[in-house]
Amino acid sequence: MSTAAEHYEHHLGPIYVWMAGGSEAALQAGSAEIEALNLPVNRGAVVLDLGAGFGMHSIPLARRGARVTAIDSSVELLRTLNELRGDLPVRAVNDDLLGFQGHIEKAPSAILCMGDTIAHLPDLGAVENLIERASIELPPGGMFVVSFRDYSVPLGGEQRFIPVRSDETRILTCFLEYEPEAVLVHDILHERTSDGWQTRVSYYRKLRLSPEQLINCLQSHGFNVRREGGMRGMVRLVAQRV
Ligand SMILES: C[S@@+](CC[C@H](N)C(=O)[O-])C[C@H]1O[C@@H](n2cnc3c(N)ncnc32)[C@H](O)[C@@H]1O
Repeated sequence: MSTAAEHYEHHLGPIYVWMAGGSEAALQAGSAEIEALNLPVNRGAVVLDLGAGFGMHSIPLARRGARVTAIDSSVELLRTLNELRGDLPVRAVNDDLLGFQGHIEKAPSAILCMGDTIAHLPDLGAVENLIERASIELPPGGMFVVSFRDYSVPLGGEQRFIPVRSDETRILTCFLEYEPEAVLVHDILHERTSDGWQTRVSYYRKLRLSPEQLINCLQSHGFNVRREGGMRGMVRLVAQRV
């Protein structure tokens, strides 16, 4: 089994933009999600994007006038973010997202953790830790937004095989294997080469978080929480610091 960092560095990182449908489509989708959130972020406000990847949300936020700190453990994805951001005020930081407090220069108006990134944390304690740290750093009215997959109810049989994307040169399929508190995510990649099709498999562990667990944790740390449907079937929690 790989760590999440190894999985992204060696397996998903190089194909992540392709997996997301290409940079233009992905940034459009990220932009639509940012529009829908309509965060109360003034021009020049500081926003932290934890597990920012190639900037699917950071770049649209910066286009709306925010100064974004984009933190990610993948050097490869941050390199892509730096290529895509142009002159926009997005600062790419290569670090573990739990270390985000070390990169705050001015009180943030919002902290985002999108696209199932929170499920990559090692255990529930780390999730609680993240929420506690966000509650300390956000001023009253500040927003914490998290989107994630609800893996609390296991899929069975063939439903565990999920076609992610395919074209004439690549096929990516995901297979889910459930443990009591985690799901082992196997990413099976077929790539056409001059020697024919090649298959590579890598798997890593994600937490099986339920929306109720996260809502309770956010409320107990002083947030009012709204639950919404997010992108690609994810749950989105929009939490405001009281
Ligand atoms: C599923 S992707 C989501 C990326 C982006 N937020 C989006 O919505 O497209 C998860 C991202 O989190 C990063 N990541 C996972 N665990 C991390 C950690 N502990 N610290 C920092 N980044 C992490 C990965 O490198 C990857 O870019």
